[in-house]
Formats: sequence, C-alpha cells, structure tokens
Amino acid sequence: MPTDLTDIEAHKRAAAERAVELVASGMLVGLGSGSTARYFVEGVARRVREGLEITALATSEETQRLARTGGINLVDTIDRPLDITVDGADEIDSRRNLIKGRGGALLREKVVAHASRAFLVIADETKAVPKLGQGPVPVEVVPFLWEVTSRNIESLGGQASLRTGARGPFRTDNGNLILDVAFADLTKPDELDRHLHRIPGVVEHGLFIGMAAAVIFGGPQGIRIVGSLPAPAAG
Ligand code: 5RP
Repeated sequence: MPTDLTDIEAHKRAAAERAVELVASGMLVGLGSGSTARYFVEGVARRVREGLEITALATSEETQRLARTGGINLVDTIDRPLDITVDGADEIDSRRNLIKGRGGALLREKVVAHASRAFLVIADETKAVPKLGQGPVPVEVVPFLWEVTSRNIESLGGQASLRTGARGPFRTDNGNLILDVAFADLTKPDELDRHLHRIPGVVEHGLFIGMAAAVIFGGPQGIRIVGSLPAPAAG
C-alpha cells in the first residue's frame, strides 16, 4: 500500500527525534537543511528550552533563521570539529552513500559534514534506493560561463538542466547556480565525484560518498538504523 504524505512526515519526525536524543550539553552541533532536518532543529530547540546547552552551526540561511527563532545559540565559525551533524538526504544507498542538494544547500552541507566527527543522516524510508541516480545529481556551479560548465558536465554522460524558481534561475545561499544532472549510469559514484571536481566552474556536487557514519530511517515498522550511532549522550 502506498505511504501517504502524513505518514511520511511522521516518519521524518520519528527519525529526527531519535537523532535529537544523541545531543548533549556542551556539544557543537551541525544543523542540516530541508524538511527532515527541520524536525531535528525543532527538537533541539525544544530541548534547549528545557535546559540543554549547546552551540550550533547552520547549513543554510533558512536553517539559521529557524534555529535562531527556536533560541539555539549559533556560531558561524568553529575552531574544533563539530561533535555531531544531522542532516537529511534525497537518496541513500545500502552503503550509506547519498545524493543531497535537491533543497539547494549542498555546498554548506558538505563543508559542515566534512568538519564533523559524526555525520548522521535522518530520512523516511522512501529515501532508501537500491542504487544512487534514481533522480538527478545537483551540481553547484559559478554563474560565470555556466553554459560551458554545463556542457563539460554533460560530457561525463549526464543531462544537465538549470534549476529555476519563480523569479528565474535558482540562486544558492552562496550566490551560485544549480545544475540538476541526470546520469544514465551512476554505478561508480566515487569516480564521478573525482571527474566533477576536475571541471572548472564546478563548486561542489551532491554526491556524499563515504561520509555518513549512520542513517536513521523512520518508517511504517518504526526506526531502522544503518551504521553506527555515536555513544548515547549524557547531558
Ligand atoms: C538540501 C538537502 C536536503 O537534506 C535534502 O534535499 C532532503 O530534504 P528533505 O528532508 O526535505 O527531503 O540536501 O540541500
């Protein structure tokens, strides 16, 4: 039976709440972006109102606004690795490789994930895929000569389309553009990762290979954890 939207929202929230349990006072926490990460931010804000003392770094301006409204203490620079970062994803394979960025925040998300001791993904079960590439890979590119960059990306075997919004091309928080690139064959994501990084004009892409320590799925059967969660938090 298909899962309806209300169920999916409940599953996202359940996954997020499991991650909220891992946050303890004194931690430096990375806050992801998107509708699933939003539940995490709201849960952390609730615990802050109950006395949790943390410092957080947001992966998008939208998350920053949400966290600030929720009373979470934010920083925009760090001098040590983040203890934990919790974020959503668009596609997740059985090896915890991801496609992210359909919300447009992939660059900051990747920088923050990379700067974290533990990068955890929260998602409803519909995000689990047998193989990455069911949908496009978002690629953030600089606006200058983006058509040339797009053609270079397509030479890797993809079909690129410029992401647009109501008021023209979508702009990321960094002022860049997003190309959504459909690849016919994405059997070697780590190879594609290297090839994309060799193209001038490509800032970052939404393939997150070997980065997630664990994925917390929420679904009709409850919570399913793939990988290892950090030790339970005390504070
Ligand atoms: C934004 C992202 C999001 O984490 C991803 O798109 C999942 O979003 P949602 O939880 O709304 O499905 O990568 O850049």
